[in-house]
Amino acid sequence: MTTTPADVRILRSDDPEAVRLLDAGASVVSESWGARLTVTPAVQARCREAVAAAEAAGWTVRALTASDAPAVVDLDASAAADYPRTAATSHDVRYAATLADDLGAGRRWAFGALGADGGLDAATVLNPAGDLIETDFTVTRAGARRRGLATAVKGAAVLALAAEGRRFGTGGAGVNAGSRRANESLGYVVTERWLHLVAASG
Ligand SMILES: CC(C)(COP(=O)(O)OP(=O)(O)OC[C@H]1O[C@@H](n2cnc3c(N)ncnc32)[C@H](O)[C@@H]1OP(=O)(O)O)[C@@H](O)C(=O)NCCC(=O)NCCS
Repeated sequence: MTTTPADVRILRSDDPEAVRLLDAGASVVSESWGARLTVTPAVQARCREAVAAAEAAGWTVRALTASDAPAVVDLDASAAADYPRTAATSHDVRYAATLADDLGAGRRWAFGALGADGGLDAATVLNPAGDLIETDFTVTRAGARRRGLATAVKGAAVLALAAEGRRFGTGGAGVNAGSRRANESLGYVVTERWLHLVAASG
């Protein structure tokens, strides 16, 4: 259970306390979810299809290195206002130097889709979290959305990192349909929903 300063209580949807609060008239002000992916041959096939579709449409999908960090940060900054903010999900644009250090040292991984002009149009950044590989963030340039690029870069990450750990984790805001769909189409399964509850007043 987590309580934010704004008195929003974040509880798993199956937590008896959430049920009790809802029965007592609490409001759900927002929701978030967590998902897991286990790499199987079928998952790898879907990932390959997603990468191939983006490449057939003219993008180059590849691993990003420390020298790509400024482009990732620029792209992320351009989309900062588009990240849904809820009691449980927020996003801070990372400093290029920190990201470059992390990518160089293997503390994080990143994959991107580059247009014909070499510009970075989508990127996903991942980090190790125990025995999981978690998505840190995924972003697509506003003018290049809904063309399968988030799905493609996430697919590239799964294909490349499968040897590092067999399970992947991710999550996001309930309202972020694009993020959830990109994950589900590769084989991520939503394992938990979190309700952001404000107790009835009076
Ligand atoms: C979320 C985001 C990364 C999706 O990027 P994208 O490149 O447009 O995603 P894709 O084209 O791969 O689409 C993936 C799926 O989501 C669907 N989708 C994408 N945007 C959607 C939206 N706004 N509403 C509903 N569905 C959406 C697509 O139709 C596709 O579904 P399908 O597999 O059934 O065809 C992009 O909207 C973005 O950068 N948003 C701002 C940052 C953010 O919220 N990042 C996620 C949290 S880390």
